[in-house]
Amino acid sequence: MRKNAFSFSKISEGALFVDREREKKIIEDYIFNKQNVIVIAPRKMGKTWLLTKVAEEMKNRESVENIWIDVSKTIDAGSFASTIVKEVFNFQKISLGTESVQTILKALPKIIASRINVQMKVGSFSVGLEVKNKEEYGDIVSEALMFLNTLNKKLFIVFDEFQDITNYEPDFTGPIRYAAQHSDNVSYVFMGSKQTMMRKIFLNKDSIMFNLGAVITLNRIPEEEIRNLLTRGFALSNVSVSKGVIDKIVEVTDGYPYFTQYFAYQIVQSAAQKNKVTVKDVDAALNAIVGGDSYLFETILSKKSKTLKPILCYIAAHDSSKGIFGANLPFSNNTINYALKVLEEEEILIKEGKQYFIANPFFKVFLKEKCE
Ligand SMILES: Nc1ncnc2c1ncn2[C@@H]1O[C@H](COP(=O)(O)OP(=O)(O)OP(=O)(O)O)[C@@H](O)[C@H]1O
Ligand SMILES: [Mg+2]
Repeated sequence: MRKNAFSFSKISEGALFVDREREKKIIEDYIFNKQNVIVIAPRKMGKTWLLTKVAEEMKNRESVENIWIDVSKTIDAGSFASTIVKEVFNFQKISLGTESVQTILKALPKIIASRINVQMKVGSFSVGLEVKNKEEYGDIVSEALMFLNTLNKKLFIVFDEFQDITNYEPDFTGPIRYAAQHSDNVSYVFMGSKQTMMRKIFLNKDSIMFNLGAVITLNRIPEEEIRNLLTRGFALSNVSVSKGVIDKIVEVTDGYPYFTQYFAYQIVQSAAQKNKVTVKDVDAALNAIVGGDSYLFETILSKKSKTLKPILCYIAAHDSSKGIFGANLPFSNNTINYALKVLEEEEILIKEGKQYFIANPFFKVFLKEKCE
């Protein structure tokens, strides 16, 4: 079997990585100085990958530890609260067997009073919260987070897919905001891919979390770096590429890291026994991908109203929404504006600066063919 250097579904050590040096440095400086950071980017833009690198580097270089909470992996308020308690306990290596009960009672009275249910296993333990009154979840989270601040350790806490917190009852944003604002030893990093929701949470003046930290947006990766990544990846996979191959990949995937890796991975696979890839192979791989996803794309398109379809077609044909308001579309500017927002909320479009782009470059290829 061929070793394929590209990777699209794992955050693995040693995988090909475009060093987002600028963003990384900014985030690391904030964390080092105990500031809170909000990272907003569309799906698959590389948030988790980037913060994983940041976590690694901060640990190795500055001895700053981290706690990672993936909110999307919790299912309800109770599981969120117990995840927080569990991670905090884990971090401090508290297990009820080893720590003096007195110490814990003093530090975490609410958590203990909530009749926490700790099951000891060898080397690990699980936490279940038995809370009669759901309203107490907020207090428990608050207590666990504020406890971290008392440890006097260099530390940051990452909330991945933070926007999912808005699904939970009771509302956790108050306690988390309090902890983030009052923890002078712990920096909070909030990440999320549902951009409109993240903006509502952190950038809306009426939101309780408004101005809680510095906002960083991750955009697509500059062409030069994508070219380097492709060149390295093909070489590491022992595949030589003929002229035009890299140009074509860059043209299709347009700086999106995930889609670049995915496309290149499929191209390497299609090289099969031969060690060379031509533009023809790239076209064949593209057809296979778009063909494979066409059922999904058809479904998306068939659900769209008469207004949305021509708008999508325009953006696909022009590579962005630039000029859409002056184009000859039979809709008012208000209607177009509304449609763009709806499509962004559905994550079919992403917004960079003032323009909207198709979030999935293979969907764009599909649309280009379909709209002709
Ligand atoms: N800096 C990068 N260099 C190379 N590839 C990258 C980079 N960032 C992301 N990728 C590619 O994109 C994939 C998705 O990255 P990641 O999971 O970090 O994105 P995400 O924004 O957290 O996505 P999600 O919205 O699914 O949480 C990675 O597995 C990798 O293939
Ligand atoms: Mg992620």
